[in-house]
Amino acid sequence: MTWWDDAAFNDYLRKFQELDGNNSDRRYLVSQLLRLTAAVPGDTAEVGVFQGAMSWLILRANAGQRQHHLFDSFEGLSNPNPVDGNHWTQGALACGEEAVRRNLAEFRGHFRSYKGWVPERFHEIEDHRFSFVHIDVDLYEPTRASLEFFYPRMCPGGIIVCDDYNFTTCPGATRAVNDFLADRPEKMVGLSAGGGFLIAGTVTASSTGAPGPGQSSAKARA
Ligand SMILES: C[S@@+](CC[C@H](N)C(=O)[O-])C[C@H]1O[C@@H](n2cnc3c(N)ncnc32)[C@H](O)[C@@H]1O
Repeated sequence: MTWWDDAAFNDYLRKFQELDGNNSDRRYLVSQLLRLTAAVPGDTAEVGVFQGAMSWLILRANAGQRQHHLFDSFEGLSNPNPVDGNHWTQGALACGEEAVRRNLAEFRGHFRSYKGWVPERFHEIEDHRFSFVHIDVDLYEPTRASLEFFYPRMCPGGIIVCDDYNFTTCPGATRAVNDFLADRPEKMVGLSAGGGFLIAGTVTASSTGAPGPGQSSAKARA
């Protein structure tokens, strides 16, 4: 694939020590999905930031024209519940807020970070609307809380990505997405390299291709 030889993209992967990592497909995919939201108004956000690699791509796409919001404990994962399986442990994937600020230094002035446990600081941006939101917190509770907060605040055509969707290591996050979207017209479109996305306002067939609950064909045509 030509993007494997994209020098700028490889420089980016190198910056986050991901040149030979497992995340390259999803990084590239997000860089492309962001193009779909170029004309959608609103801010951008990431919930679950780790070292800031995905926020770096979002900020580059924003080109200083939008504000970006970062939510993280900066102390790693919260306590998994039984629904989350046994892959994750509390405190995993911790990266300090200062390290993230350093990684995103070139975008200073165009992002704000909110240290805390999801969803305790969401209310600080309750009046904002969004074009692109990346949710990547691995567990049921914070994934569900993120969807509850951001979904009603998406502008039509805006995109929500859930990085954890359909990973066998993240049964709770996958279930949170499916539970939340069960009676909504949008569904998560699962990606071959893991993760998924929805487009706000775009009716999506269930995974079998048939209209899902509440999606009569008349509604799908509307
Ligand atoms: C998989 S990492 C995020 C990776 C990042 N999105 C990327 O693309 O590189 C998960 C992040 O979620 C954060 N996190 C997990 N549960 C959280 C919670 N309940 N509240 C706040 N942050 C949480 C962790 O601190 C960690 O930074």
